[in-house]
Amino acid sequence: MATWSNFNLQNSASPLMEQIIFFHDHTLIILIMITILVGYLMMNLFFNTYINRFLLEGQMIELIWTIIPTITLIFIALPSLRLLYLLDELNNPLITLKSIGHQWYWSYEYSDFTNVEFDSYMTNYDQSNINNFRLLDVDNRIILPMNNQIRIMVTATDVIHSWTIPSLGVKIDANPGRLNQTNLFINRPGIFFGQCSEICGANHSFMPIMIESISIKNFINWINNYS
Ligand code: CUA
Repeated sequence: MATWSNFNLQNSASPLMEQIIFFHDHTLIILIMITILVGYLMMNLFFNTYINRFLLEGQMIELIWTIIPTITLIFIALPSLRLLYLLDELNNPLITLKSIGHQWYWSYEYSDFTNVEFDSYMTNYDQSNINNFRLLDVDNRIILPMNNQIRIMVTATDVIHSWTIPSLGVKIDANPGRLNQTNLFINRPGIFFGQCSEICGANHSFMPIMIESISIKNFINWINNYS
């Protein structure tokens, strides 16, 4: 969970988020190298007194400063494509969770079971309760088993919303009249938070997502006792 002092990515709780963080770091290092190089060159250009009265063209330097950025971009593009296809891959999901965006709450359906569906509203902040997370807590949490492939189907009923959980590397738009698919793999037990990230109206900030990741045994128990 992110707190006010966290300006970085949240710790990953899924293999895909791990890959996203690796790609972010890789790209950031390239970016830093470019910034330092260009910064150094510009400093040199500004603070010198050299004059070249015959400078008209420089074929070789133009060739170099065209080829080098091209190669640099390939070094970013190839891992980016790899990540793109990894994120889209779904291999034999155990269960399917359907998330439906509304103004302004989410509702969930466990389509593999009959009558397992509920609305999930943000709850009021209760300062006396230590297990209460301001603006992130909901009345009905999503319960999911850890260490399993989970298919997520996302849609909306009114306007566009976005089902986003930073620590799991999931961010997918919920469009009315469409059904989007993504996947999820949680590699540890815990509670994971998300928020809508498509500006959807007055209470856009107040439709959080809360996932409770538990063992498969406890999950079966929860499903069996669901009324
Ligand atoms: Cu729903 Cu923003």
